This record gives sequence, C-alpha cells and structure tokens, in this order.
Amino acid sequence: MRKYMISGVNFIELPRDQEKRNFTNAVVEGLSQPQKILPCRLFYDAAGSHLFEQICKLPEYYLTRTEQKILEDNVSEMIDTVGQNLALVEFGSGSSIKTRLFINAALNCQKNLHYTSVDISSDFLRAASFSLLNEYGRLSITAIAAEYNDAIPILPHHEGPRLILFLGSNIGNFGTEEAVAFLGRIANQMNQEDRLLVGFDLLKYLGVIEAAYNDSAGVTAAFNKNVLVRINRELGGTFVIDDFEHAAPFVGTHSRIEMRLISRRHQTAYIAASERVFHFESDEFIHTENSHKYTIESFVGICRAAGLEMHAQWLDKNAWFAIALLQKTSLFRDSS
Ligand code: AVI
Repeated sequence: MRKYMISGVNFIELPRDQEKRNFTNAVVEGLSQPQKILPCRLFYDAAGSHLFEQICKLPEYYLTRTEQKILEDNVSEMIDTVGQNLALVEFGSGSSIKTRLFINAALNCQKNLHYTSVDISSDFLRAASFSLLNEYGRLSITAIAAEYNDAIPILPHHEGPRLILFLGSNIGNFGTEEAVAFLGRIANQMNQEDRLLVGFDLLKYLGVIEAAYNDSAGVTAAFNKNVLVRINRELGGTFVIDDFEHAAPFVGTHSRIEMRLISRRHQTAYIAASERVFHFESDEFIHTENSHKYTIESFVGICRAAGLEMHAQWLDKNAWFAIALLQKTSLFRDSS
C-alpha cells in the first residue's frame, strides 16, 4: 500500500506491479475455465471509465437518470436521517453529479465534510478528487485506489456517523453470494450509527432492461470490447477486436443481464504477459459481466443475510429503481 498527499488529497494506492499481476492472473484464470469469463472490474481503465460515463448519458440507459431523480428529490431527507457531523464514504466514485448532490446537502447542514472515495481507476480518482477539492473549500478528501474489498478495512475512522454510498446498482454486478459477502464486510466495519445507502435496479418490462445494454449507438459494445483492447495493450495480447461481437441477453433464471463477447470464428489469441495461447470456437463466448435485477423482497433477503436491515427506502414513480438506507441489524430488540 502507498500513502501520499497531493494538493490536499490523501491518496492511498495499491502498488502498480501488484495491479498488473492481479490483472494477468485474473485474465489467465478466467480464460482457462470451461466457460471463459473475464471479471467486469477489468473494464475500468481510464478509457473504460470514460465509456461508462458515456453509457450513463445514453437514452436507453435509464438507471443513472432514474437514480439521480430519486436522489435529487430525497437527498436532504437522506442526510437528515443520518444526522449531524457525518462523513461521506463512496464506493465506485463513478458519477460526480451524484457525489455533488450529497456534498451540497451535507454542507448545508454542517461546517466541514470529509469525503472518502474508493475506485479501481487511480487516474479517474485523481481527476475527480482535484476537481471536487477546487470546488468546495470546506471539503477534505481521502482517495483510495483499490478494489472495494481491499478498501473496506482501511476506511478512515470518524467521530460521528458515516454515510456510506454504494450507488448506481453496482451491487447488481456481484453474484448473490458475493453481494452478501461484500455487504457483510461493510456491515462488520459499521458502527450502530453508520448508514449504508445502496442503489439497486428493479425487475421490470424486459424490453426496457435489454435496450439499456444494447444501445443503438454501440457505446455498450465498445465498453464491453474495451477489456480486450486493454489486454492487447497492457498484457501484449493479440485479440482481433472485430472478431468478437457484443451480446447482452436477459437470463431469467438468474434475473440478470449477461454481457458476453462472442467469437465470430474459430481463432486463437496469444497473451505475452502469461506466454499463453487461448483458443476460441466459432460462437463460443467470454462472459464479461452480470447485472442483476431485483425485487424489493429479493434485495431485502440479501441485506438480511449480510447482517443489515432496511431503515428507509425510496423508489421512482415507475418503480424502476430503488435506493435503500441500511443499518447494522440490531442485536437486541425492544420486545415490548
Ligand atoms: C456499473 N454497473 C452498475 C453497470 C450495469 O448496469 O451493470 C455497468 C454496465 N454494463 C453495461 N452497461 C453498464
């Protein structure tokens, strides 16, 4: 772990060589399985983060604007519910607009605010932190460039409640067991007064869901293929990008969108960093992402299993998206 300070921002970073080793291992391990997979966290280098920002503005991608409207309408109530002298923590500091809503609302109620931001992309994190610090004189920042699980044990302590944000239906990219484990790890680090705010996408008319992952401008396809572009550039891969096709069907048995890269022909790709060759049959696919869609009940079940209970919830008018305010399950309940 590397800790340093630039222009008032506390940075905590995983060493670069470890990052590269993690990347190589994840690629080799994933492509060696009978059903080839590439973990979706590998999408997010600077180019991938930029493509994701573009996805968030697409007309078909309803998730971001729907969640944002819920936040705009309710952010003051959310901050009030948590209480005075809070600190903000955000996992996946993807959208600066949402972050600013919380910072504005918190600074309306208190003098200063400490904001901790956790993101896998250090370049993106750096740019976002500097622009926030320039904008808000009463803000201090800790920026942690790491995978979420690695960041949980090193979150800064705070005298007062922490409001931990995990927005954008990022939770949906985890499998159910993984979601329970991740939320459980956060719950273990929470005090009784801390609150966790999670945005999650709801099950709805399938045409709406599938269009969001198959946009007409092809931005999601470019985002999906960016993982191969990254492997070529960073690990010396020889993937012919145009020989892979983007697909994103809804798989009802798992209540999720599955993003895939389908090999258009029988082909091989060499990865220099691992000195390995990978073979692809025609129509064989690499599974690159899951994006789960929940009912309120299915989501409450995951939270319970993680040791969290619902304190409050907000939905948009179509019930397409929900935001849950969670607290640690209290061990002792008033039985009266
Ligand atoms: C980041 N995550 C919540 C997005 C999602 O909707 O699952 C990632 C994404 N994949 C394709 N489009 C957007």
